[in-house]
Amino acid sequence: MSSESKRKILVTSALPYANGPIHLGHVLEAIQTDIYVRYQKSLGNECYFFCADDTHGTPIMLAARKEGISPEELIDRVRAEHYRDLSGFLVEYDNYYTTNSEENRILSEEIYLSLKGKGHIAEREIEQAYCDTDKMFLPDRFIKGTCPNCGTQDQYGDSCENCGATYSPKDLKDSHCSLCGNPPVSRNSKHIFFKLGDFESYLSDWVEKGSHVAEGVRKKLKEWFEAGLQDWDISRDGPYFGFKIPGEIEKYFYVWLDAPIGYMASSLNYFKGDRKKFDSFWKDKKTEISHFIGKDILYFHTLFWPATLEGGGYRSPTQVHVHGFITVNGEKMSKSRGTFIKAEGYLKHLDPEHLRFYLAGKLGPGMDDLDLSFDDYTAKVNSDFVGNFVNLVSRVATSILDKLDRTLGTPDAEGKKILDELRSSESKIREWYETRNYTRVMKECSRLGDIANKYVNDLAPWIQIKSDAEAARKTVTVALNAARILSIYLYPVLPRSGEKVYQILGLNKKPEFADLSSDLEKTKVSAYEMITKRVEEKSIQAMLEENTLETKSAQPTTTTPAAAPKTEGVLEISIEDLSKVDLRVGKIIEAGPVEGADKLVQVKLDLGSLGTKNVFAGIKASYQPQDLLGLTIVAVANLKPRKMKFGVSEAMLLASGEGESLSLFVPHRAANPGDKLK
Ligand code: 2FM
Ligand code: ZN
Repeated sequence: MSSESKRKILVTSALPYANGPIHLGHVLEAIQTDIYVRYQKSLGNECYFFCADDTHGTPIMLAARKEGISPEELIDRVRAEHYRDLSGFLVEYDNYYTTNSEENRILSEEIYLSLKGKGHIAEREIEQAYCDTDKMFLPDRFIKGTCPNCGTQDQYGDSCENCGATYSPKDLKDSHCSLCGNPPVSRNSKHIFFKLGDFESYLSDWVEKGSHVAEGVRKKLKEWFEAGLQDWDISRDGPYFGFKIPGEIEKYFYVWLDAPIGYMASSLNYFKGDRKKFDSFWKDKKTEISHFIGKDILYFHTLFWPATLEGGGYRSPTQVHVHGFITVNGEKMSKSRGTFIKAEGYLKHLDPEHLRFYLAGKLGPGMDDLDLSFDDYTAKVNSDFVGNFVNLVSRVATSILDKLDRTLGTPDAEGKKILDELRSSESKIREWYETRNYTRVMKECSRLGDIANKYVNDLAPWIQIKSDAEAARKTVTVALNAARILSIYLYPVLPRSGEKVYQILGLNKKPEFADLSSDLEKTKVSAYEMITKRVEEKSIQAMLEENTLETKSAQPTTTTPAAAPKTEGVLEISIEDLSKVDLRVGKIIEAGPVEGADKLVQVKLDLGSLGTKNVFAGIKASYQPQDLLGLTIVAVANLKPRKMKFGVSEAMLLASGEGESLSLFVPHRAANPGDKLK
C-alpha cells in the first residue's frame, strides 16, 4: 500500500471507571473495538488504539478512604487489574493510560480556558445537599430516603427503584447521607456551567451531515435537540478527587469533563508529548477519530464531547459507534444468578478467543442488545470455530503431511478455482469489517470454510495418500491455502489462532490482507500444534458456580447505608388503622416486562369478587414474568390507584426482603382469589 492511500485512524473505547472490576460488558466493547483496530492494521493503515482508566470523582475518593489508602494507590492498583483483564481477551492497546495524568490535567485546563475565553462558560449559585458531618456536598447517589411517590424506603436521591419515579433529592422523605446517616442540609454554592446551547447549530450540523453516527443514534439526538440543550454543570466542590479548576478555589472539574479528554491524553502520552503528531489527529480532518461506546453514554459523546472539542479548538469525531448491552442467558447480568461475569472469572476457565468468535458472530452495526447464551456459545464454537476452521487445518496437517515429507505442492485447476472463490469474498468482508457488521463477516467465513471442507471431504486425501501421494499433496495444498485465506479474514477476530495457523505454515508473521495476493506452494510446513480446544460444558459450569459464590460473598449483607438513621422503635398502629387495609388473596393471571423499566414487572391480578387489577411491582430483580404466572399471592387490594410513568397501578403485592432476595408472600394453604386475610 502506498503511503498516500494509507488512512490514519485514532480509535478509542470508553474508559472503564476505576471503581469496579472489568466484566463482560466492558469486554464486549473492547473486543468490538479491537476487531476494528486489528482489521485496520492488517490492511496496513496507520491505526492506533487508545484507552485509559477513568479515575476521578467522589466514588473513587470514598472507596480509597474506606480502604485506608490514597486515591492514587487505589487507581494504580485497579488500572493494573483492568489492563491485565482486557489484555487477557487479546485486546491490544497502543496505550492504556490513566485520566489522572499530567497530560490530561494540562489538556483539560487548556480546553476549559479556551471555552471560557470564547464566552462558553457561565457561573451561578445552585442549592445542593450538604452533609455537615462528612463536610461535603452529596451527589444524588449518596443521598437516600423514602420515595415521595410510592413511599418505598431506602431509595437513591434521584430515582425510585420501585416505582421508577425520578425526582430531586430535596423531595425525598426523611433523606439522609448514605455515609453517616444524618440528614443533609441545604447549602448554596457557585457552580461552573458549560453553555452547551451555544453549540446547537454546530452539533446539529455534525449530526445531520456525513455519517458520524448511525441512523438510530441520529433519531435519538433529534429528540434531544427538540427538548433543548441545557447548560452542563462541569464543576464540583471539594473535597473531590480530580483536577482543580484554574482560577477557582476548591473547585474541581466534574469527572465527565476530563474523562473523554483522557482519550486525547492517552494519545499525547503515546506520542511522547509531540504536539505536532497529536494535532495531526485532533486538529486535522484528513485523519479519522473513531469512538466506540455503549448506548448509556451517548449524550456525553455525541453532544458534550463534540462541543467540548469544538470550543477547545479541536476537530469533531469522525465516527461515534454505539453498541447495545450484553445479556447473559437472556437476562441482565445479575450477581445472585451467577450471570454477572467478571473478565477474570471467564479467563480462568474459558478461552478468550471463543468469546471473541462468539461475540463477533453476533455483533452488527446497530445498538441492539446482544445475548450471550452459553448453550449457543458452546454449539457455535464447537461447530463453526473448531469443527469448521480448525478442522480444515488439523485433518490435513498431521499424519498425512508427515507422509508427504511435510512439503506442499501446487494446487491443480480445480483447487485454484476453490481458492479463487475464497479470495473473491475479500471486498465484501472488508466492507463488513469497515461498517462493523461482524456478524456478516463470520457468516461468510463459515460459508467459505464449508466450501473448503467439502472439497477435502470429496477428495479424501487420507484415501488418496494410499495410492497417489501427489494427488494427496495437491488436496492438502489447497486445504492449507484455504485455511491461510480464512486466517487472514478472521485474524481481526481470532489473532491467536490466525498466528498459529501461519506458524504451522512456516510463516513467521501476522496475517494481513496483502497476503491474499499469492498462494503458498512448494514449501515445508511445520509440525501441527493445537489451535484451540472444544468448549467443555463442565468448564462453563465451573465458571458460573465460582462466579455465583464469589459475587454472593462479595455482596453486602445489607443494602442500607453503613450507619442508617436510627429509628426510635416501631411505629404502632391501632386495630382500626389495620382494618383500613384490605389484604386479599390474588392470583396472577398475566405477567410481563415493562419496557424502559428494568426493575418493574406488570401483572394482572385476579382478586375474585373485586375483579381484576393492574399492578406495577418492583420485583424484577428476583422474579421474571414467567415465574409469576399462575402464582397465588397476598396483595393490598384497596390501595388508591397510583399514576406511574408506565400506567396506573391499582394494588400492591406484599413481599419481604430486597433486590435479588426479595420474596413474595404466598398463602400457606389453598386459598381463593378474593379471600380476605384474617
Ligand atoms: O461510563 C463509564 O464507565 C465511563 N467511565 C466512561 C467514560 S468514557 C470517556 F468519556 F472517558
Ligand atoms: Zn454524612
